[in-house]
Amino acid sequence: MCGIVGYVGTRPAVDVLIRGLRRLEYRGYDSAGVAFFRGSRLEIRKAEGKLENVEKLLNSNLSSHGEATCGIGHTRWATHGKPTTQNAHPHQTGHVVLVHNGIIENYQEIKREIVAKGFHPKSETDSELFGFLVLQEMDRGANLTEAVRRSFAHVQGACSVVVMSEREPGVVVGVRNGSPLVAARDPLGGAILASDAQPLIEYTREVIFLEQGDMAVASRDGLRFFSLESGRELQRETATLDWSLEKLDKQGFAHYMLKEIHEQPTALVDTLNGLLDRVRTDPFPLAEQPGVKLLDSAREILIVACGTSWHAAQIGKYWIERWARVPVSVDLASEFRYRSPVVGPGTVVIGISQSGETADTLAVIRQMKEQRIPTLAVTNVRGSTLSREADAVFYTSAGPEIGVAATKTFTAQLFVLLLLSGYLSLRRGADSRAEIPAFFEQLVKVPHILADCLGSEAMTATRKAAAELVTSKGFFFIGRGYSFPVALEGALKLKEIAYIHAEGYAAGELKHGPIAMIDEGMTVVVLAPQDAWRDKTVSNLEEVKARGARIVGIGAASDSSLASLCHHWIPLPSITQGLDESLLPFLLTPILQLFSYEIATIKGTDVDKPRNLAKSVTVE
Ligand code: AGP
Repeated sequence: MCGIVGYVGTRPAVDVLIRGLRRLEYRGYDSAGVAFFRGSRLEIRKAEGKLENVEKLLNSNLSSHGEATCGIGHTRWATHGKPTTQNAHPHQTGHVVLVHNGIIENYQEIKREIVAKGFHPKSETDSELFGFLVLQEMDRGANLTEAVRRSFAHVQGACSVVVMSEREPGVVVGVRNGSPLVAARDPLGGAILASDAQPLIEYTREVIFLEQGDMAVASRDGLRFFSLESGRELQRETATLDWSLEKLDKQGFAHYMLKEIHEQPTALVDTLNGLLDRVRTDPFPLAEQPGVKLLDSAREILIVACGTSWHAAQIGKYWIERWARVPVSVDLASEFRYRSPVVGPGTVVIGISQSGETADTLAVIRQMKEQRIPTLAVTNVRGSTLSREADAVFYTSAGPEIGVAATKTFTAQLFVLLLLSGYLSLRRGADSRAEIPAFFEQLVKVPHILADCLGSEAMTATRKAAAELVTSKGFFFIGRGYSFPVALEGALKLKEIAYIHAEGYAAGELKHGPIAMIDEGMTVVVLAPQDAWRDKTVSNLEEVKARGARIVGIGAASDSSLASLCHHWIPLPSITQGLDESLLPFLLTPILQLFSYEIATIKGTDVDKPRNLAKSVTVE
């Protein structure tokens, strides 16, 4: 979704803005722009497409921005109006300039009023309209901060804005009313605001996550906070970030996605260490925290999520039911919130979201809180809205994920869900509890086995298969049991980054319709590791083979009968033999991630920033 940066201080403002926007590029965008003070006048440079286009405009006239020490910048992901220069932010209305992230739901109503008063918006956006509201309030005598505050009373919808005015050079006013905004004091004087913390850590680790309904007013003197509702000044706590700049760089990998695929062993170790009390020697020693108490009280669990996080939830359901015998239902957050769900007493709702900002997942958590249903979050971002609004949080510790396609955050989410399953098994005295100590011993080895797998022959075979199948007209990914949601995730990755039509299917469902599509032009990727479902999956594979599809098989290295059915064979390394079948998704997943990555790079797509996608989906 859109990215915002605002800065005032002693540094060259445009440099701070562009560097900040670069760090927000991963969110996905289709146009960009900056506004800066030249003396007491505001100037804007904006363009369609990539940030480079804005930089070209800036470089063609260096003198115009070299001295600026105050400005705002934006990367836009189009919602209202096409991705054109005209619709790009910042928007200027008289002496007011603003950037906006989110949606103004009642924009048509506001537009009618504004047009009736004789104003003429230049863009098709909802965002520009806010500037007219601020202009009117300032013309009535309000200062910039108060004008922004009063204007918000007219706005419905979740958004954040950052505003400047030529009447108050050197003041940047930001509001968080839904979409996230983070602020920090610059140690050299002044302050910086942004949609997330990544643009800030170059300057400081001490940041303030604005609360819903907070205003931040930045000037050379620093940073102050006010309530959007009352206008009263507020005190806000500073949080210390543990992310390092080094972790944000590509470290020699061609893409962030590839780096993040290889960071999965570390992400799992860090997640494990973040959640377990490693001094204890009992299995699944979840460290004392509020989330554990909530889990203990659960008679049923409902998990809500979107996209990849929803796939993690599906695997979590299989695990929690298998290990702990606690009933679990899984819902797409966007569906759940608009039907009339029945959530029984004793249910604990878990929202899974790597970003912690996904609008639909947040909405469900809010609905549940209104109904006094206990809520838990699983997220990768400390200080994210989800982490603050849920009753308790289990963090994945995957570190910043820059590639838009989720990789390491997915496997880290899986790790959290498996840790919760094992913990609940013991806690509930489930029949499986006798197996738990041996299972836990295997689980703690998963990061090492995964590291081995990433350097194994499986990856060479994956690259080879991908290179030979890049022209396939379509893909099915099939599996049963735990491998079914892994197949869904494999298909999503291919669609996201390679723009090839792909579907994930439960292998047993193929014959109920989709098999009609199978012919020589199609590829079927079959996940058939050595587990309880292997034989059934292989018999489904025979049906596909008979109809001429190209087959990529992933299974145990010793499974020669499966290998003989496949055109491309990807053997799991022998180190995986004897592993409990619950752990196999950790080894199948990176193979599918790499498979999509290879096809995408051969096709030459923008792997880290695929078209039309955003890293954190803060609109419905
Ligand atoms: C994952 O590769 C996708 N970019 C997308 O499906 C994502 O998982 C979904 O938007 C949910 O995001 P979240 O985990 O941040 O809530």
